[in-house]
Amino acid sequence: MTDQLKVIIRKRELKKRIKKLAYEISNDYRDKNPVLVGILKGSFIFMADLTRELQIPHEIDFISVASYGSGKCASGVVRWLKDLSINIEGKHVIIVEDIIDSGLTLNYIRNNLLTRNPKSLKIVTLLNKKRKRKIKIPLKYVGFSIPDEFVVGYGLDYDEKYRNLPYIAQLRNEKNE
Ligand code: PRP
Repeated sequence: MTDQLKVIIRKRELKKRIKKLAYEISNDYRDKNPVLVGILKGSFIFMADLTRELQIPHEIDFISVASYGSGKCASGVVRWLKDLSINIEGKHVIIVEDIIDSGLTLNYIRNNLLTRNPKSLKIVTLLNKKRKRKIKIPLKYVGFSIPDEFVVGYGLDYDEKYRNLPYIAQLRNEKNE
């Protein structure tokens, strides 16, 4: 059986929402020169679009982690693959995520970054799956709340496929009914 994709957030809606998020962040962080920290790989497209809509000076860095878990479920145990190159001590940091599901990956990353004494630490996520949350995480900016369906596109993958799609789509296949 082949993969079936159903578009749930169109390119135009993504663009409009990201522009609005960038406007809010630009207002909140005026004169603060924040560091945007993208969590690879999923956040790379969101980060690229968000940074180009921001109207304030800011820095960009990335973290890459591998989450141990079975299939699509994160366990909260994270292997560090790439760390920041910027020292965030005393800086205003915004974590940039593509999707929050159980919240375990982000909780681990957040706790780790907090030990580095940033001046502030907030989170922006494009997508939020509230129903799957296993741990409470304070989210400052949320693009879209979505139902508990497996989604791909705009940076999000299934077996490394579909990251390049310009929209968010629900994926249905024999492994993912
Ligand atoms: C995704 C996403 C988050 C995490 C969310 O990354 O980018 O980091 O899963 O899941 P959680 O809230 O249940 O912890 P993934 O492990 O798919 O890696 P990728 O970004 O490289 O595709």
